[in-house]
Amino acid sequence: MNRRFFLKNAAALAASPLLPTTTLRAESEKHLPAIASQPRPFPPNFVWGTATAAYQVEGAVHAGGRGLSIWDTFSHTPGKTFDGETGDVADDEYYLYPEDIRLMQRLGVRAFRFSIAWPRIFPHGTSKPNAVDIDHYKRVLDRLKEANIVPVCTLCHWDLPQALQDKGGWANRDTSYAFAHYAGYVVSQLSDRITYWMTMNEFDSFIDGGYGGGGMAPGLDLPLGQLVQARQNAVLAHGLAVQAIRASAHHPAKVGLAEDISGAMPAIEDAAHIHAAEVAIRERNAPYTTVILEGRYTEQYLRKLGRNAPKFTAEDLRIISQPLDFFGINVYTTQEVIPSDNQEGYEFVPRPATYPHAQSKWLFVNPQAIYWTPKLVADIWGVKNIYITENGYSSADVLRADGQVLDTDRIMYLRNYLLQLQRAVSEGVPVHGYFLWSLLDNFEWAHGYSQRFGITYVDFKTQVRTPKLSSDFYRRVIAENAVG
Ligand code: NOJ
Repeated sequence: MNRRFFLKNAAALAASPLLPTTTLRAESEKHLPAIASQPRPFPPNFVWGTATAAYQVEGAVHAGGRGLSIWDTFSHTPGKTFDGETGDVADDEYYLYPEDIRLMQRLGVRAFRFSIAWPRIFPHGTSKPNAVDIDHYKRVLDRLKEANIVPVCTLCHWDLPQALQDKGGWANRDTSYAFAHYAGYVVSQLSDRITYWMTMNEFDSFIDGGYGGGGMAPGLDLPLGQLVQARQNAVLAHGLAVQAIRASAHHPAKVGLAEDISGAMPAIEDAAHIHAAEVAIRERNAPYTTVILEGRYTEQYLRKLGRNAPKFTAEDLRIISQPLDFFGINVYTTQEVIPSDNQEGYEFVPRPATYPHAQSKWLFVNPQAIYWTPKLVADIWGVKNIYITENGYSSADVLRADGQVLDTDRIMYLRNYLLQLQRAVSEGVPVHGYFLWSLLDNFEWAHGYSQRFGITYVDFKTQVRTPKLSSDFYRRVIAENAVG
């Protein structure tokens, strides 16, 4: 049956009340491309992207004069990562980047969030920069430009040079100045190729995870007062870097960061619960987002810490709260809050044992996270320019003999999150783009390669990349600029 004939007859069939609609649907599927039943549109200029980070994908840890980072040391320390796995090779993207840019072209993304490896640029932490790897990043950026993909650069995605850790790392205030120096240098070299800069990624993960528990590099468990000071050094570094970026750019630069707002959302969407969530999110993020956006620590944070409270000057607070051009939020999960008549006025609800989660046990699935997190950030702090700088899902993916990876659970996750994001955007929450984590399966920190977040399957023995079904799903969302 040709298409014209079919359409004519389909109309006639539809008019007949006697024919079962299922027959009609089955017929039409054979001839018409399937379309989402009621796609929910995003605004015309909404930016679709994907994200990665240097240590998780680059490999080539000895190439180009790169120095050691704390993640090299940590992952090579027995017992620290799953099966002793390291980022030595990872996705070999240092060499395979042209292939990965082709994957992005296949998806149709407009932007790519990646990070520059600090130990490639300052192998010894400070002193002489390494021009070899600036040239490497120039080649990557030129290839992205040819592909019409906008680079969005994170300056530090956790890979602190080991040489700086040897002097105390983030527990030492000098590291804040070293970071600003590095940021200014990179921007002076690459501002003709990069407009969008992010200082840091997820303060809480690399500071509280790295210095307050030991699960992340450098694997320390400092006394509370020192941990609190490391937090302060990290936000100071962010503020100093914002200044350095603006001072060093020869071309227009837009500056922001990527933060995993430790979340809170109303368990029920009524005024009392929403208020409880607002109070909770501000307090929960007191050491990072709140001080960055308000220029002060909350009274409760300082009071609770007592003699362990951070030491800072008024000038520190001014630097920390430099105005930003955009605010990036990594959204994976959040936690429900209810109002309470306790001192705080709110209570986080413990998750029932049956609460669904991804392969990663921490990744509880609650799609409303991507509605409430940016909405609360916009409502509480008046932020006008938000990007979702990460969102994604780990699954027990299987590469089948026929070469397919049918990750329907990831598709379910992405569809539900994107529907909630569309809800936010259509209500006027100022989110302008979305970066899916991750383009590729990669080195998932202490979990090594055991947790796959990619929409492209990577065989880590052969480096063969296979787009998963979820990449076809995402490609379609991008093509239609809608989710259905
Ligand atoms: C956030 C981090 O930025 C990224 O590096 C990590 O892989 C994802 N979360 C998933 O855990």
